[in-house]
Amino acid sequence: MSHALIVGGTRGLGREVVRILSSRGSQVSVIGRRDPPEGDRQIPNVQHWIADLLDGDAALRAAESAVGSNGLLNYLIFCQRYRGKDNDWAGEIQVSLTATKQLIEALAPRFAPRATGESCL
Ligand SMILES: NC(=O)c1ccc[n+]([C@@H]2O[C@H](COP(=O)([O-])OP(=O)(O)OC[C@H]3O[C@@H](n4cnc5c(N)ncnc54)[C@H](OP(=O)(O)O)[C@@H]3O)[C@@H](O)[C@H]2O)c1
Repeated sequence: MSHALIVGGTRGLGREVVRILSSRGSQVSVIGRRDPPEGDRQIPNVQHWIADLLDGDAALRAAESAVGSNGLLNYLIFCQRYRGKDNDWAGEIQVSLTATKQLIEALAPRFAPRATGESCL
């Protein structure tokens, strides 16, 4: 079973990606700030971690915990959108860019090797 980590998978576009991957049989780990909407915790093969990307260390801990629980990654998908105060430049940069860079760099060694001839989703 493939494992996909969706950052920002509790709402909007990311939530739809979570549903599609789950319906295709993937194990899906989700990171968001808030509890998922009612019913989302019952979606098969989906597990949620609460972490705020404004706190880079908390996001890394959540991602490591997801790998510890659900195995090495096959997919890492970023769907977060900064929803803080108007014109909060630092928050926008942290959530959109810095957290993305930190997670990619930390998780690069945590991907499953792709088998020869294996295709993408
Ligand atoms: N919606 C569209 O039609 C559309 C079209 C084209 C491109 N996009 C792009 O897709 C991305 C997502 O957009 P969206 O409209 O789907 O956004 P959205 O509905 O606001 O969802 C954003 C997601 O990011 C999470 N998030 C926001 N701030 C966070 C933080 N500080 N820490 C952790 N998680 C955080 C939210 O989770 P919580 O609320 O639980 O924190 C939520 O799951 C954006 O890059 C956007 O530009 C969207």
